[in-house]
Amino acid sequence: MDLSVIVPTFNEGPNVAELVRRTTDALADRAVEVIFVDDSTDDTPDIIRAVAAAASIPVRLIHRDDPVGGLGGAVVEGIKAAASDRCVVMDGDLQHPPEVIADLLARAELGDVDVVVASRYVAGGTSDGLANAVRTMVSRASTLLTKSMFPKKLHNCSDPMTGFFLVDRSALEVETLQPRGFKILLEILARKQMRIAEVPFSFAPRFAGESKASFSQGMRFLLQLTMLRFGRMSAFALVGGLGAVANLAIMWGLQTVGVQYIIAAVIASVVTIVANFLALEYLVFADMRAESGLMRHRFIKSFTFNGVEAIVRIPVIWVLVSQAHIQSVVAAGLTLIAAFVVRFVFHALVVYAPKKSRIGKAARAIEPLEDEVTA
Ligand code: GDD
Ligand code: MN
Repeated sequence: MDLSVIVPTFNEGPNVAELVRRTTDALADRAVEVIFVDDSTDDTPDIIRAVAAAASIPVRLIHRDDPVGGLGGAVVEGIKAAASDRCVVMDGDLQHPPEVIADLLARAELGDVDVVVASRYVAGGTSDGLANAVRTMVSRASTLLTKSMFPKKLHNCSDPMTGFFLVDRSALEVETLQPRGFKILLEILARKQMRIAEVPFSFAPRFAGESKASFSQGMRFLLQLTMLRFGRMSAFALVGGLGAVANLAIMWGLQTVGVQYIIAAVIASVVTIVANFLALEYLVFADMRAESGLMRHRFIKSFTFNGVEAIVRIPVIWVLVSQAHIQSVVAAGLTLIAAFVVRFVFHALVVYAPKKSRIGKAARAIEPLEDEVTA
């Protein structure tokens, strides 16, 4: 096998036959397989099976009932299952022209790189197929942001957000990848310094169906960036920081309509405690939820902690305001900062502690956290 082509699909039925046809034609003189890693909720798997039966190259289907990690998770699964170490990842909607695979392969065969990126932003490439001006701007801006966060690792990559690339699996530590959502190439490039080459390509309009990108994918991406760059503790800090700002804003708002500052602080705390918990559940500790028991129990622990914290914090605010004559909002801010570290440690090691019955996995999940906490 010269090459495995991995295609993540979510409800892409009408594109399957055309994709296999063009891939077969473009790589006629090569031993190539296509692996569809499918999370569809429609009849796409049946269509893939039918196309596979008629194809002249091996076409495999991995259908996932539990779509862990979304698009990125699907890609990682495909990389693990591939017959060849040379893996091409390509979208299933023909926005990535299969003919470009030949260019990727030819570049990889020079033998001096680990990853060949099909780039929209290198001479000869275009991004005309992006749905509209807003998506083009979002894509450009997030590319810049990402490159500025990883100036060294992404130095040779003009398009870290592309979903079209070739990777040499032997250069990867597949087990260390933590795919979240759409940006799997970024995950691969950010983990370890890769030798990167690029070939240009023109991002085509979709052949059929519609895009699965969304605002929530965008938020997931921002979180992924934060996690990759600073680890879980900073994602926690980001959430906590936003919570603190909201807390102060609510307090200030209530005081301007005449609510006494102690009462205002209590209300602001309750509102932000609940919002914070939801952000921790679905963003910061999303990957640990499955193993750490019932959400209700976590909420009780988290709520109790925050309640105790607030109860301790409010007398401290009172002391700071009435004895040390610090302005009330500033005093509240100071106590929020002090509470942050304790709160992170408690959540990482207590609230999201894996259940004992699965201690093997548990130990693995907690280790990196412990390192972070220790650091
Ligand atoms: N298995 C699986 N699971 N596949 C998925 C999922 C999922 O949860 N979500 C989307 N896909 C598949 C789609 O079926 C498609 O084959 C491919 O992933 C890309 O999804 P699109 O919905 O077509 O995304 P896009 O065109 O908006 O985004 C593409 O271009 C971006 C660059 O502008 C993707 O390649 C992105 O990764 C890329 O960043
Ligand atoms: Mn697409």
